[in-house]
Amino acid sequence: MSSSLIHFPRLIDCHVHFREPGLEHKGTMATEAAAARAGGVGTVCEMPNTIPPTVTVAALADKVRRAHAIKDCDIRFFFGVTEKTHLIALRNIWIKSDFELQRLKKKCCGVKLYLDHSTGNQKAESDVVEEAFKLCGELGIPVVAHCEDSMINEVERGRWKEESDDISLYSKMRSPESEAKSIAFAIGLARKYKTKFHVAHLSTALGLDLVRDAKKEGLSVTCEVAPHHLFLTTDDYKTLGTLGKMNPPLRSKEDQAVLWQGIADGTVDCIATDHAPHTLEEKGVVVGATHASPLQHQSNIDFQKIPSGVPGVETMLPLLLMVAAGNWPHPSSKRPSTAKLSYEDIVKLCFTNPNRIFSLGCSDARVFTIDPKKEWTIHASDLHSKCGWTPYEDWHVRGKIIGGWPADRST
Ligand code: DOR
Ligand code: ZN
Repeated sequence: MSSSLIHFPRLIDCHVHFREPGLEHKGTMATEAAAARAGGVGTVCEMPNTIPPTVTVAALADKVRRAHAIKDCDIRFFFGVTEKTHLIALRNIWIKSDFELQRLKKKCCGVKLYLDHSTGNQKAESDVVEEAFKLCGELGIPVVAHCEDSMINEVERGRWKEESDDISLYSKMRSPESEAKSIAFAIGLARKYKTKFHVAHLSTALGLDLVRDAKKEGLSVTCEVAPHHLFLTTDDYKTLGTLGKMNPPLRSKEDQAVLWQGIADGTVDCIATDHAPHTLEEKGVVVGATHASPLQHQSNIDFQKIPSGVPGVETMLPLLLMVAAGNWPHPSSKRPSTAKLSYEDIVKLCFTNPNRIFSLGCSDARVFTIDPKKEWTIHASDLHSKCGWTPYEDWHVRGKIIGGWPADRST
């Protein structure tokens, strides 16, 4: 083997939506796990906004049973909480000695709370959020929160709603201040109840400052950033249109540069994809007849009706390897001067830290091999997600996985 080959432990993506059960037209555990494996991701933590949502013992048991048949990657599950009764189920899973509940606990990586609505409408009211932080503080369960402030979002939505054909307004409707206010609220609860708290898909400079301060204070607060906030900005609405709609939304170049700075100074603990497949049709895009223009955005579309989310589990590693090689994959933007990574950083952000934060117990001895010099171009037609598109179409990246691992996660 050539000496330029590198070996990484099978990566961990601590934030994915695999859509099963209930939303299998967007993705299934089997299709999205194949995408994960093709992207060097051997373990994922899957979110509760399925149908039914993962808020009961029965729903968790059903997901664990389905995941047992998936051999491409090891799927762990977040338990959702939207009502206080869900906390009774969570407590039982965590403390009862019942064999079946103990088995489910091993597959449950923590609690996921939505502080405003997103896909699946799982917003929890603030009294439920407080109870969840309290219980999780008592039992040592990590809490992950989607942090956006519903009141600020509602005011901004009202302000901009007349101009609903300009997708770039979406970033104004869900502002940096909204994220920051919500993160500050959640950090307050983490302080009060000594809860292990992890900020999902942190996307703003304001939010990052709050996490940095909480860490300095000695609180158990961690955060992740998503590749789409590291590589895309509001400028990308021009080419992506409604495909660039996600929650939290695309941010400014300044925010993007600060997120990279947060990686460099260690404030950012994880890179996690928020892999969220939706079909092209749902995203308001029709597959055109010509090769030159394969996708056409529907005209006069009300972007507020378009679901939020982009796929990403298969493209994270090659995008990061491009940065590690000192390059920048975006075809028309410049590399922020703060965007720097080493191979060790990638392992820390996408294996060591999520493994520790969520007590996943993944072994770093299960490695795979990458040729970091091999260049290639991202085409959705070569990727595995059922959704059939990527926000990084035609981007030039580096790093091909050689051989991968057998389609059996136990070997
Ligand atoms: O963009 C997003 N998509 N953000 C979320 O919070 C949910 C996710 C999804 O499930 O589609
Ligand atoms: Zn998500």
